[in-house]
Amino acid sequence: MAIRINDNNFYLETENTAYQIQVDRYDVLQHIWYGEKTNQNMDYLLDYHDTGFSGCIYDAGNERSYSVDTLPQEYPASGNGDFRIGALSVRHADGSRALDLRYKSSRVLEGKYAIPGLPAVYDENGNAETLEIVMCDKVSGIEVVLQYAVIPDCDVITRCAVIKNNGTKPAELLNAGSLCLDIPNGEWEWIHFHGRHTLERCAERKPLLHGIQTSSSSRGTSSHQQNPSVILCSPECTETSGKCVGAALVYSGGFETNIEVDQLNQTRLIMGIDTNTFCWRLAPGEVFYTPEAILSYSSGGLEKLSHNFHHIIRNNICRGKFKASKRPVLINNWEATYFDFDENSLFNIAEKAAQLGVELFVMDDGWFGNRNSDCSGLGDWSVNTEKLKNGLVGLTSKIKQLGMDFGIWMEPEMVSEDSNLYRTHPDWAIKIPNRDPIRSRYQLVLDMSRKDVVDYLFDAISKILSSADISYIKWDMNRSITNWYSAELSHERQGEAAHRYVLGLYDLLERITSAFPDILIEGCSGGGGRFDAGMLYYCPQIWCSDNTDAYDRTKIQYGTSFFYPVSAVGSHVSVVPNHQTGRITPIESRAVTAMAGSFGYELDLNQIDDKEKHAVRNQIERYKQYQKLIYNGTYYRLSNPFEDNYALWEFVSEDKSEVLVHGMIFRTDSNANRSCIQLRGLDRNKYYNMDGKIYGGAALEDGGILLPQPAGDYYPIELYIREN
Ligand code: DGJ
Repeated sequence: MAIRINDNNFYLETENTAYQIQVDRYDVLQHIWYGEKTNQNMDYLLDYHDTGFSGCIYDAGNERSYSVDTLPQEYPASGNGDFRIGALSVRHADGSRALDLRYKSSRVLEGKYAIPGLPAVYDENGNAETLEIVMCDKVSGIEVVLQYAVIPDCDVITRCAVIKNNGTKPAELLNAGSLCLDIPNGEWEWIHFHGRHTLERCAERKPLLHGIQTSSSSRGTSSHQQNPSVILCSPECTETSGKCVGAALVYSGGFETNIEVDQLNQTRLIMGIDTNTFCWRLAPGEVFYTPEAILSYSSGGLEKLSHNFHHIIRNNICRGKFKASKRPVLINNWEATYFDFDENSLFNIAEKAAQLGVELFVMDDGWFGNRNSDCSGLGDWSVNTEKLKNGLVGLTSKIKQLGMDFGIWMEPEMVSEDSNLYRTHPDWAIKIPNRDPIRSRYQLVLDMSRKDVVDYLFDAISKILSSADISYIKWDMNRSITNWYSAELSHERQGEAAHRYVLGLYDLLERITSAFPDILIEGCSGGGGRFDAGMLYYCPQIWCSDNTDAYDRTKIQYGTSFFYPVSAVGSHVSVVPNHQTGRITPIESRAVTAMAGSFGYELDLNQIDDKEKHAVRNQIERYKQYQKLIYNGTYYRLSNPFEDNYALWEFVSEDKSEVLVHGMIFRTDSNANRSCIQLRGLDRNKYYNMDGKIYGGAALEDGGILLPQPAGDYYPIELYIREN
């Protein structure tokens, strides 16, 4: 049994970890432990001492050693004596803001809870268990159901909170966190993933400071700038050893991760919806569901933590036909043509690609409405016959005759002011009455919180998808959202617009994926601006970045790999000099870097010389050979490209019989020793064959292997090793 209730204690257990909660003598829910598996009730670690300026709950009388401000809480509410960051904050009808949550009941259920309207971890095998703990604020009637699920075959616990108004008056939720984790002891460092458009998810590790540190997005999307994922680790934690806890939010809108180190050196982590753009009116009888947070702990370093997240996201978040099956090698025309194409030029790109082994042709932005630049056309999802003279069917059937599948780009959530859609429905764009809206990339955002908008989009997208033989959509979203307001919401409910937008988006994606289960959707938001577990529930792969420069990509993909599996990463080979950085890298380095993902090309293969064409054919053959190992194998970060002179990563098959090391040496030094790299995850007792030479597994792990002598900068590395 993964979940046990014993007296006032709750024990949740995964293969290697334990999570303990206790209802204390005042019915307050205390967090006791999250860490290494143990048979011990860890409540002996709680320290009750005179709490000074930290107040006591009324029923504790004169017991000065009891304070919710100093004891670890499971789901702390604001305004009731815990002065640290809170998980829940409510404004009551009388304007007061205190909430005193006390334990009411609990139960264990078979299976994994689901969250209506929101993506969440699922369990197909029926092995999961759910714990529900109900807490209640007697005065207002606000009830909170904390839901926990244990998925037994991996070290993961999921959490969400369901907030109900069982009172008689409306209340406003000002903050509704998905997760609170109190860690009373130890020194912790913080790893988060920051960046910008074309440089997403740069891993940054810093010691925690006293006070609050935040990573968040108020952009309406999870964003390029921060990612809804976080790691706390011990200072000595490395890839392969040490303690670390990770959390990822299954949510694609604005989010907030707050970490506080308090007066007693205790650490608290809270994660949930962005509070800057959130205020939810909860009328009597109404229920609010927070997004889900996925939590994992590893005592075996960051690598094990990443493996846990890769496992759960690949197997229990991603869904549908393409979750496990092979994805097509694609060619996308964006960097080859931008908006300047017609049927013939696209066909020429596709024809050459088909000859070299590419399986899917993707027509990017510009095929619809009067979309000849990024100033117009968004919202008019009908084919531009000036560019595609035989319509979608004409182009698609020609592509199909090449033996390739066909895919298209769409940006459903957006509208250009210069579009028929906007001229017909100006009120569908997000705007505040009497205020000019903020434009970004010349475009406005459709109000996805409106059912009529979502219905319209479902029909428009369905029409396109049914009009031709389409196998793939690149679902783009190219701006941050501001001017939050919805014409459909009353003034008291305007604070709900941002979250309702995300719910509308998920509704649309759910409807599209159910109606078109054979179509592969690749998520995108100016590259990786919405790279999160929420989107991966609908799209098993996401375009990782608009930056296709192989050197920068090694860093972006390194940061992405802490939480997200390689199968989720869209990655392409493009031309040099690279369009984003001007950098020139060898075509082999671009290829091995792009192979750490759903592989493709983003260039006109007619424009490269014969030698490079030969290389491309060979790369595609190799990728097809390695694809299973890359998608289903275990991924190891062998270097830190932010610190080392090389970026290297490794895939090991489940049975440890096959190993692939890819990467590049950044800078070549003359007359230098070759770099030596220690492999990981091998069978130490097996013998492996690399290029006809035999090596022991233990030798490859302990001694390592000498990398080739680089000849030129950004020198590509590929080592394929098989059990002998
Ligand atoms: C942003 C995407 O990330 C690019 O790959 C491309 O599809 C453009 N949008 C098209 O507008």
